[in-house]
Amino acid sequence: MRVIATIDELVGERAGWAGAGTGAVGFVPTMGYLHAGHLSLAERARAENDMVVASIFVNPAQFGPNEDLASYPRDLARDLERLEAAGVDVVFTPTPEQMYPAGFSTYVVPEGTLNARLEAAVRPGHFRGVCTVVLKLFNLVRPARAYFGQKDAQQVAVLRRMVADLNVPVELRVLPTMREADGLAMSSRNSYLGPEDRAAATVLIRALRAGAAAFDANRDGPPDAALAAMRTVVADEPRATLDYADVCDPRTFAPLATLRSPALLAIAARVGPARLIDNVVLDESGDWNMGRVAGEN
Ligand code: PAF
Repeated sequence: MRVIATIDELVGERAGWAGAGTGAVGFVPTMGYLHAGHLSLAERARAENDMVVASIFVNPAQFGPNEDLASYPRDLARDLERLEAAGVDVVFTPTPEQMYPAGFSTYVVPEGTLNARLEAAVRPGHFRGVCTVVLKLFNLVRPARAYFGQKDAQQVAVLRRMVADLNVPVELRVLPTMREADGLAMSSRNSYLGPEDRAAATVLIRALRAGAAAFDANRDGPPDAALAAMRTVVADEPRATLDYADVCDPRTFAPLATLRSPALLAIAARVGPARLIDNVVLDESGDWNMGRVAGEN
């Protein structure tokens, strides 16, 4: 596995593959501190492509001024071991100065409902930072396929829109949310949780399950009971504070007036020092995708 830290080196490497007719490149962009969810993306990319590139870059542009950029967990040595074990060929680890050199001033700014509600409302500028860095990475790596986790449902929807709107020649693959045995969605930010907050953090999946059950009891009705069920579960957990609970269309993030598929139940809450997000999806066929537990099929 090659570790490449500069854009010049990556561009040279990529040109070599194109010249050698290497075939399809799969790409897994990450911010590091990798867990089984990231590794499932790398393993899928390995299975579906001739060459696999991952990136590790804690992207300053997607953090707000009062967010956790400085404390975001990092462990490059462990990440590299895990990526190598997953069969990754090249890891790109640029510095902020490489990605945003002096004078950098061109950003990709998503608009519309997708960039107005939920994560976009709580974290202004977040998706501008995500779209900008992901488009830069796509331009450098030029992957045939790129792999993302369903846990970041709004990021997935925003990036799908960006790829369609800007005619970016890449196929986005979205894999199920990977969960701990007790249902907590895997996240690098779970490392902020002490034991009591860690136990309380299952409130997100408990709320989503309650919302899904209320949804099932009232399909074609208004979303009020599903929303109330989610809010009640969070209100009953003293260590958690709700940012939002929502029922929306997973493609547009427009709120649903009546419950129907496809639907996304999304939640964000603060538990102790961590801000956590999670979601479950009712797909077009009417089945719930709740994610999967690491190690189980
Ligand atoms: O999902 C993430 O880890 C980040 O938002 C991404 C896609 C790597 C862009 O920085």
